[in-house]
Amino acid sequence: MTKMSSLLGFFVGLVLVGVAASSNFEELYQPAWAFDHFIHDGELLKLKLDNYSGAGFGSKSKYMFGKVSIQLKLVEGDSAGTVTAFYMSSEGPNHNEFDFEFLGNSTGEPYSVQTNVYVNGVGNREQRLDLWFDPTKDFHTYSIFWNQRQVVFLVDETPIRVHTNLEHKGIPFPKDQAMGVYSSIWNADDWATQGGRVKTDWSHAPFIATYKDFTIDACECPVGVSSSAASPENAKRCSSSEDKKYWWDEPTMSELNLHQSHQLMWVRANHMVYDYCTDTARFPVTPAECVHHRH
Ligand SMILES: *[C@@H]1O[C@H](CO)[C@@H](O)[C@H](O)[C@H]1NC(C)=O
Ligand SMILES: *[C@@H]1O[C@H](CO)[C@@H](O)[C@H](O)[C@H]1NC(C)=O
Repeated sequence: MTKMSSLLGFFVGLVLVGVAASSNFEELYQPAWAFDHFIHDGELLKLKLDNYSGAGFGSKSKYMFGKVSIQLKLVEGDSAGTVTAFYMSSEGPNHNEFDFEFLGNSTGEPYSVQTNVYVNGVGNREQRLDLWFDPTKDFHTYSIFWNQRQVVFLVDETPIRVHTNLEHKGIPFPKDQAMGVYSSIWNADDWATQGGRVKTDWSHAPFIATYKDFTIDACECPVGVSSSAASPENAKRCSSSEDKKYWWDEPTMSELNLHQSHQLMWVRANHMVYDYCTDTARFPVTPAECVHHRH
């Protein structure tokens, strides 16, 4: 190939490969359950939890790598017992999953954000933090960034968690299964608030989570049998090569930059309330990835 034609290939590839960069609910998502608990209010989408049901939606497509974001305003007032979740997940017993779970609390008490990472069907990697703002007063952006090097959880672009690829240490990393994007609200008063001691007070129902601005900038995988399971085809399709370059494969995306590292350190020092990596009662042997994590 001449220099010119490879350059041309680069730009053609950049435009043509299946990157879905969109920000419209109807285009990207569909209700998954309790359609009658969805309220469309102009540009806002509200999901309602009452004593009959919660509600949830999922992406129409599956994706590998890229970034997904939502803007979310959490249940106001007494939200104890409720959980609102935003997550990516593949399917099947060996599924991978990246979770944000917002755990409601009594009026005036801080919301906790729990994150978790499942690899090959195994989770147990919870971290919890209190946010540095009241997430029920305004919309804030919650994002998951995913490439072959790391999974990063972000709140208003501030990284709150990084799950690093440590395959060179023999630790499996989720990068072979296409994932859907999901969100839901449900009653979890058996565990969500202060370990289940505080129950949902149904006299405060309905509990409403409000969404706007849905963004998915990721490699879209064809829907079908192959997309639900681990598919080498999808992995290949969604990886940069000679003739196509994805922004999430840029060298600068392979780890946090200095500013982001400082932000993460600040979050961990000031807002972290639980980290499975330091829970020696639960894990007498420190989980392998914790030993190697720099953070
Ligand atoms: C749900 O709550 C409403 C209003 O408080 C009440 O009238 C109704 O009986 C409840 N239903 C169930 C199934 O608990
Ligand atoms: C709720 O508030 C209490 C008291 O401030 C706090 O200890 C707890 O972590 C908060 N979050 C949850 C989910 O219980």
